[in-house]
Amino acid sequence: MIVIAIANQKGGVGKTTSAINIATAMAASGWRTLLVDLDPQGNASTGVGLGASQRDMSSYDLLVDDVPLAECVTRTNIPGLDLVPATVDLSGAEIELVSVEGRTDRLRRAFANHTAHDVCFIDCPPSLGLLTLNALCAADTLLVPLQCEFFALEGLSQLLQTVEQVQQRFNPDLGIIGIALTMFDRRNRLTDQVADDVRECLGNLVFEAVIPRNVRLSEAPSHGLPALVYDHACTGSKAYMDLAKELIGRLPKQKVAA
Ligand SMILES: Nc1ncnc2c1ncn2[C@@H]1O[C@H](COP(=O)(O)OP(=O)(O)OP(=O)(O)O)[C@@H](O)[C@H]1O
Ligand SMILES: [Mg+2]
Repeated sequence: MIVIAIANQKGGVGKTTSAINIATAMAASGWRTLLVDLDPQGNASTGVGLGASQRDMSSYDLLVDDVPLAECVTRTNIPGLDLVPATVDLSGAEIELVSVEGRTDRLRRAFANHTAHDVCFIDCPPSLGLLTLNALCAADTLLVPLQCEFFALEGLSQLLQTVEQVQQRFNPDLGIIGIALTMFDRRNRLTDQVADDVRECLGNLVFEAVIPRNVRLSEAPSHGLPALVYDHACTGSKAYMDLAKELIGRLPKQKVAA
């Protein structure tokens, strides 16, 4: 299973929207896809249609109580897409894990030898605490959604420093598969400027596909549906399909073949 963490410690930059829609696009292309909700807000779980009362085993059980991954996986209504939901308990995990041995390695161990899925997306919370650290330690690679606004680059350099520390201390193989520009607004000149700056700084690391600001993307979660299912023809859905295609092209070839 290829594990892709979707992280950015900045809040509201499109992590969850990206996780849901890229995962849906990959499931639609025949990948057995797992979405792990690692945010106590549980937005990814709600966004694929799993209400709070339907969440039985969750990412909390996986991380804190050593419940096997297979027992925490729930089917969604989207063919090919399974979910490990999050519950509010998870907000306590950040503190409960502090005293646990191997606290950064809990998720990686839970994923070991799992063959029921081809690809896994982890939707991280907006912080660089133990939950995100677990995701970065378990991941093969990281996808960073970046909102084109003034402070974006500052936040990004902090995230890249964390990635470097994780590579040095815990997960030397952690890669960065790409940076996805989100909530792009053509009419806003600052957005354009930030996008140019990011591309100049980070070159090919930035995906060609840009996610526009699009109302349909923000409406979809209230229907418990990925935008790709809610309105597959809207500009946001099309952009996420392009992004998923590009992402697949960047995945390690030997893993794609397997
Ligand atoms: N491209 C877009 N166009 C319009 N609205 C968007 C877009 N992407 C995300 N949104 C909306 O912006 C809000 C934040 O997006 P999202 O929840 O994906 O960000 P996040 O990074 O996961 O947030 P958090 O840090 O709280 O987990 C949501 O209400 C979402 O529906
Ligand atoms: Mg989120």
